[in-house]
Amino acid sequence: MAARPSLRLALAFIAISSFVAAGPCDIYADGNTPCVAAHGTTRALYSAYSGPLYQVQRGSDNTTTEISPLSAGGVADADAQDTFCDGTTCLISVIYDQSGNGNDLTRAPPGGAATGPESDGYDNLASATGAPVTLDGSKAYGVFISPGTGYRNDETTGVATGDEPEGMYAVFDGTHYNDGCCFDYGNAETSDTDTGNGHMEAIYFGDNTFWGSGAGDGPWIMADLENGLFSGEDLDVNTGDPSISYRFLTAIIKGEADHWAIRGANAASGSLSTYYDGVRPDATGYDPMSKEGSILLGIGGDNSISGQGTLYEGVVTSGYPSDDTEASVQANIVAAKYATTSLTSGPSVDVGSSVSFQATTSGYTDYYLAHDGDTVNIQVVDSSSSTTLQEQASWNVVTGLGNSACVSFESVDTPGSYIVHIDFVLQVAAGDGTKQFNEDATFCPQDGLSGEGNSIRAWGYPTRYFRHYAELAYIASNSGPHAFDAPTSFNDDATWIIGDSFA
Ligand SMILES: *[C@@H]1O[C@H](CO)[C@@H](O)[C@H](O)[C@H]1NC(C)=O
Repeated sequence: MAARPSLRLALAFIAISSFVAAGPCDIYADGNTPCVAAHGTTRALYSAYSGPLYQVQRGSDNTTTEISPLSAGGVADADAQDTFCDGTTCLISVIYDQSGNGNDLTRAPPGGAATGPESDGYDNLASATGAPVTLDGSKAYGVFISPGTGYRNDETTGVATGDEPEGMYAVFDGTHYNDGCCFDYGNAETSDTDTGNGHMEAIYFGDNTFWGSGAGDGPWIMADLENGLFSGEDLDVNTGDPSISYRFLTAIIKGEADHWAIRGANAASGSLSTYYDGVRPDATGYDPMSKEGSILLGIGGDNSISGQGTLYEGVVTSGYPSDDTEASVQANIVAAKYATTSLTSGPSVDVGSSVSFQATTSGYTDYYLAHDGDTVNIQVVDSSSSTTLQEQASWNVVTGLGNSACVSFESVDTPGSYIVHIDFVLQVAAGDGTKQFNEDATFCPQDGLSGEGNSIRAWGYPTRYFRHYAELAYIASNSGPHAFDAPTSFNDDATWIIGDSFA
């Protein structure tokens, strides 16, 4: 029977308004596969959610504040973070669960494979400013995971265990990855140790080829099911799992009894593709699964901490989501309009210029960043210094070798050699063209932490900045496990006046 026109209009209005307002977790709930954990530092994942998205801790006094959406269901209030963190460093200390289950993510504890880098054996927290983006023009921050950084919750509520069905999606930076183990988001062991095949079900993203892999050179979306990154049924090459590196990437893993799937898409446009949809691996332990229900981010189930990547938002569901539900979630992600924004701030440091770095710490203002062979140090330099020393303290600014949104610094006296961090120590070394070298030679100038000049952030370790310490130079964090991470005089030691080069 046809509805009367006025009723049709009313129904259409309800349909449109609920479509516009729905968040990813409203869509999963409609599909009877509700989110049991919902993590998004960039936005609320339910239309009605207006609680805290994440907590930041600042270096100046170690106090914290919570960052919430601008309005219910909206984008994070990045201005609140920028105000709180002005003139100091900030870390993401809690990623809140928006589902109501309390499955918040905090600093991951030491595990069976690795002890974290912090002095208590825990993993590092992420910089709060390492992954700036915009959503429909509104600034927000993702979670930039460097090797050594990890989040976890081993005492969750509502997350699948055993062979129970679940789904998950994450929005990653498809250009931020490596071949270390393992940049994961999803379900893992509650003991932080490897308890055997089938004890995990997490999304992996990267170009590790130790276990399975996909077509081409990677990176790939794979499933970390423990003791293996699976691109399909076997620990083999699934040519149906493509190399995929969209700047904004939607990655999906879902699993139920003897059945699981890998799916992916460009998070900024278009629809999902299915890269695997089939039976569980035929090795012992994967059918049935023995999921344990911990949730982790950025690490393997045994706290393997060599992976890197960026999470903007992600959820874990109860039940196996339908492809239709996931299509609606993907449409919602596209409609959120993720886009890039500048990775630098402060006085501009122009590609093509040649510069010097003047120290700003009281008593050191006649010192400049220089090098002596491989060693980067600070030395007293002025216009009457020898030509050799003036050249040692001069640097050509080039497009960032590892990310064109930032810069690299080539030694004026040693063309082809760049400032690079090796074990957090600054050195001058010949570029070797590897992804690792290029990334470790890439720096993103920021507003100076002390209120003048620039602070020079390491692209791949955004908690760390150029710092002089005992007249040598490092990438240092504002408190941390090394002597050069000492918080005393951090802002001054990590702030430089960038001027014309000497030579
Ligand atoms: C903040 O905490 C760290 C680690 O406990 C400590 O080293 C540092 O001194 C603290 N900073 C301040 C300003 O209290």
